[in-house]
Amino acid sequence: MQRIFSGIQPSGIPTLGNYLGAIRNWVALQGQHECIYCVVDLHALTAWQEPGVLRARTREMAASIIACGVDPQKHIVFHQSAVPAHVRLAWIFNCVARLGWLNRMTQFKDKAGSDREAASAGLYVYPNLMAADIHAYHATRVPVGDDQRQHLELANDIAQKFNHDYEVDFFPNIEPLILGPAARVMSLRDGSKKMSKSDPSDQSRINLTDSADEISNKIKRAKTDPEPLPESVAGLENRPEARNLVGIYAALSDGSSADVLAQFAGQGFGKFKPALAELLVEKLRPIADETTRLLGDPGALDAILRDGARRAAAIADPIVAEAERIVGLLKV
Ligand code: AMP
Ligand code: TRP
Repeated sequence: MQRIFSGIQPSGIPTLGNYLGAIRNWVALQGQHECIYCVVDLHALTAWQEPGVLRARTREMAASIIACGVDPQKHIVFHQSAVPAHVRLAWIFNCVARLGWLNRMTQFKDKAGSDREAASAGLYVYPNLMAADIHAYHATRVPVGDDQRQHLELANDIAQKFNHDYEVDFFPNIEPLILGPAARVMSLRDGSKKMSKSDPSDQSRINLTDSADEISNKIKRAKTDPEPLPESVAGLENRPEARNLVGIYAALSDGSSADVLAQFAGQGFGKFKPALAELLVEKLRPIADETTRLLGDPGALDAILRDGARRAAAIADPIVAEAERIVGLLKV
């Protein structure tokens, strides 16, 4: 049985993009794998966080993951800072990864923006911590959205250099799992930008906690074009907003974009949007309700996270201790 690891930042309420690009796949993988899912609060610190807000969002994200259908008893749900093995291995990886490798990371360039000098050092070494998250468990398969592909390649480069430099075969190669027709959900306001919890406009995204009215309004106001929906997927080319909405419908109805077009070809957005809104409400309502229920009992939620961290540490501690021994750290 292969071990799965994935992480998500507690940087806001999870969006439809997080759900379709990540969490929904996490749920689906539980049948065949041992799964470890982590709320990466240390990664969130790479950008400024209000302390109280970060704590609240860490609980919110954990609750959302469980509400989406991850089973924290059969698998592991925990938050990163509760297992120190991540940071211990990240330091070793800081010393393995080369500056030249980090300089190529497009996410750093995007997030640092034009004022690189003002970005935190943590943001720069972010991919090393991410590599440590995965390798601390000898996980081999990592479900993520398409935007994380480059970071996983770096994680493999780090593992290879570690194995090579220390003449060991210790860290396995990891395989990205980029799943589903909606691996990249785009903003509702701009079909060229990804839907993100950090976008200043709430109209750009569907949050997993949005009410039915909010969902309907956001879909109604979503940017589109005046053309009716085409007969075939090829007809969606150069229509990024239309392609995005069709992709969302396809993902939520467990079909393909071609299936959706077979149903809606020739119809305008006046017909398609209400159908999409209805489908969204039907699929997201139970998740929102369960999230609210879990957050209503923070004691029980914290107990789930504590138990997850204990079981995570039981796997990671011996692996990271061995990595420390391999590089020559004295164990007394
Ligand atoms: P983040 O919100 O950046 O912490 O991302 C958490 C997970 O959700 C990662 O696996 C991302 O690749 C995925 N993700 C975030 N935004 C999107 C999006 N708009 N479409 C698809 N996947 C996404
Ligand atoms: N960097 C990932 C993101 O922004 C989150 C993440 C952190 C992660 N550690 C991870 C994803 C380990 C997969 C595996 O989406």
